[in-house]
Amino acid sequence: MKTLILGSGAREHAIAWAFSKSKSNAGVFCLPGNAATAELASNIHGDPENAAAVLKAARFSGSKMVVIGPEGPLAAGVADVLREAGIAVFGPGQAAAKLESSKAWAREFSDRAGVPAAATRYFTDYRTFNSWLSASPTSRMVLKKSGLAAGKGVLESADPDELCLFAKTVLDSDSMLVEEFLEGYELSIFALCDGEQYTLLPVCADHKKAFDGNKGPNTGGMGAICPVPGLEPGLLDLIDAAIISPTFKQLRKEGLMYRGVLFFGIMVTASGPKLLEYNVRFGDPETQSLLPLLSSDAIDLFWSAAGDSLGTLQTEYNSRAAVGITIAAPGYPGSYPAHIPVDALPEPNCNSLLFHAGTFRDSDGLLRTGGGRCFTAVGLGDDYFQAHNRALKLAQSVSFEGAWFRHDIGRKFSEF
Ligand code: AMP
Ligand code: GLY
Repeated sequence: MKTLILGSGAREHAIAWAFSKSKSNAGVFCLPGNAATAELASNIHGDPENAAAVLKAARFSGSKMVVIGPEGPLAAGVADVLREAGIAVFGPGQAAAKLESSKAWAREFSDRAGVPAAATRYFTDYRTFNSWLSASPTSRMVLKKSGLAAGKGVLESADPDELCLFAKTVLDSDSMLVEEFLEGYELSIFALCDGEQYTLLPVCADHKKAFDGNKGPNTGGMGAICPVPGLEPGLLDLIDAAIISPTFKQLRKEGLMYRGVLFFGIMVTASGPKLLEYNVRFGDPETQSLLPLLSSDAIDLFWSAAGDSLGTLQTEYNSRAAVGITIAAPGYPGSYPAHIPVDALPEPNCNSLLFHAGTFRDSDGLLRTGGGRCFTAVGLGDDYFQAHNRALKLAQSVSFEGAWFRHDIGRKFSEF
């Protein structure tokens, strides 16, 4: 089968890498892809949020299935246009994509489903927020822009000045949620869904804070482990019963057909697991740690969610551990230099994989970075420690000016 993958990140590189090893692979295309996907697939220029351009690329390449990596094209309704044209799509339509593209709508939906989450208030104008804040006791709280923000729409703070500054910026153009600050640890749980049934993939944990020791500002994700060692027995069943199953039940009740992957960001608190957010796609960097553990055929698995083969969602995994470390540009998650020349890259092997994010080759053939998060270095091993050592070694051998990464991805889970 020929397949088309939308996106250019390390997540999409990992999907293309898994597809390139599939026995069902008859050609992988990426739109727009990056310097590394160009080597294992065929890149097609274009804007993944432009449905007409994507449809043209799917037809031109003869792709039977389109996998939508990032949230932008899902929110723009690209999946609906492709499905109407008879092309199978891994990813929900625009109506269900509101679970991610509108945090306000998503929280109302999760309330209708009876899913436990942080206590939340909504604001649509700055004055109302400001008078509410002035009348409230000072406490740590979480402010969230309702619409898409590429991982940068959340502020945790107890400082009224900082809260007001952030709220003013958000409320100039969007609505805003204010949530109670939840203490606990975070898990990323992925459910593949074929429109009727769902199946859970191995649990991952992302690390959102920029610096070692979970310090610094929030980022899109500085590294992820899969599986998560030391989880309490029964925790996953509890999350399924309290959060995942009610969500799919509510989607059916509201007539929202869901094909693809639904990502549940969960905070495990002292009073039980709570939903932080829904995402309507795979996580980045989680996917880079998850897919190397898959022993089922990747194209067949994605097809079982996107195609017409209901009831065939089956996943098998090897028993290895994976640790993925994000290598970032200097200044990220603030402003950072664009297009930094990459001086040296390690040779990947069967225990370490390097996934590129947005890299490209300039007119002289020189590899350059393409964003704030530039690579994911994934180490595989018999256990967390071996995988972590291999990931660190790999990350250290990626060289470009100002490259940096966290050294403690997964460590807190290894101490459970
Ligand atoms: P979200 O985009 O809603 O997942 O938020 C991004 C990150 O902010 C999450 O992965 C958490 O690390 C943090 N966060 C979001 N909501 C809360 C909350 N209510 N309490 C504590 N941390 C939160
Ligand atoms: N790793 C978090 C995300 O993909 O949103």
